[in-house]
Amino acid sequence: MSAPGRKPVIAGNWKLFKTSAEAAAMLRDLRPRVSMIHDVEIVVCPPFTAIAAAAQALAGSNVQVGGQDLYWESQGAFTGEVSGPMLAELGCRWVVVGHSERRQLFGETDEAVHRKLVAAIAAGLSPIACVGETLAEREAGRTLEVVGRQIQGALGGLSGDQMKRLVVAYEPVWAIGTGKVATPAQAEEVHAAIRARAAELHGAAVAGALRILYGGSVKPDNVKELMAQEDVDGALVGGASLQAESFAAIVRWRG
Ligand code: PGA
Repeated sequence: MSAPGRKPVIAGNWKLFKTSAEAAAMLRDLRPRVSMIHDVEIVVCPPFTAIAAAAQALAGSNVQVGGQDLYWESQGAFTGEVSGPMLAELGCRWVVVGHSERRQLFGETDEAVHRKLVAAIAAGLSPIACVGETLAEREAGRTLEVVGRQIQGALGGLSGDQMKRLVVAYEPVWAIGTGKVATPAQAEEVHAAIRARAAELHGAAVAGALRILYGGSVKPDNVKELMAQEDVDGALVGGASLQAESFAAIVRWRG
């Protein structure tokens, strides 16, 4: 269970799903289902094109909006990219950075992830920095080495103030979209290792306040046991965040 001072975050990563109209309809359905929850930060991350409609549908609610990616320059000749200030202007408070689909399908490196984290924080956003091993890496016993390297690459060189704005998501690649969730013990082992690595880089106080989310096939029926782990401070939810009923059930895991 999340330590005092680490307010849980439940974030929905919609990926390449939902038009603006579909986003607005889903969020009108979600709002009343979670309006009584004030001890959890609730975030939805629609595709860029649906962010404005989402922010409008959520105005005055306790559900926040985030982007799924950003570029590290504010503006310039970078066709197809979207910047932190552009997301902030639409009402985003959050942005996912370094999701494994970005790393695997779009060639994003640890260095690019680091630059994006710095840019997100400079734009006033809270980045959700994603890390996680592949199945082959886990089976080779390299999980902690791989995740440790990703944490070093992403978080190394950030200041304590920058770290306060950032959240980490541990998402084992083999658990994303597969229905194969990590066991609570597997998640806790890696979360504790991430916190230890963060302590080496930034000191015990910063690491103790760092929120570490688990992602990968989080569903209403497995969220509770994951959230019961000492170093699990929230969830990054893909498939189950697309329907109001299942996302609300995850947000309300305490019952
Ligand atoms: P999933 O996706 O919940 O559908 O496994 C999680 C993610 O990719 O963030």
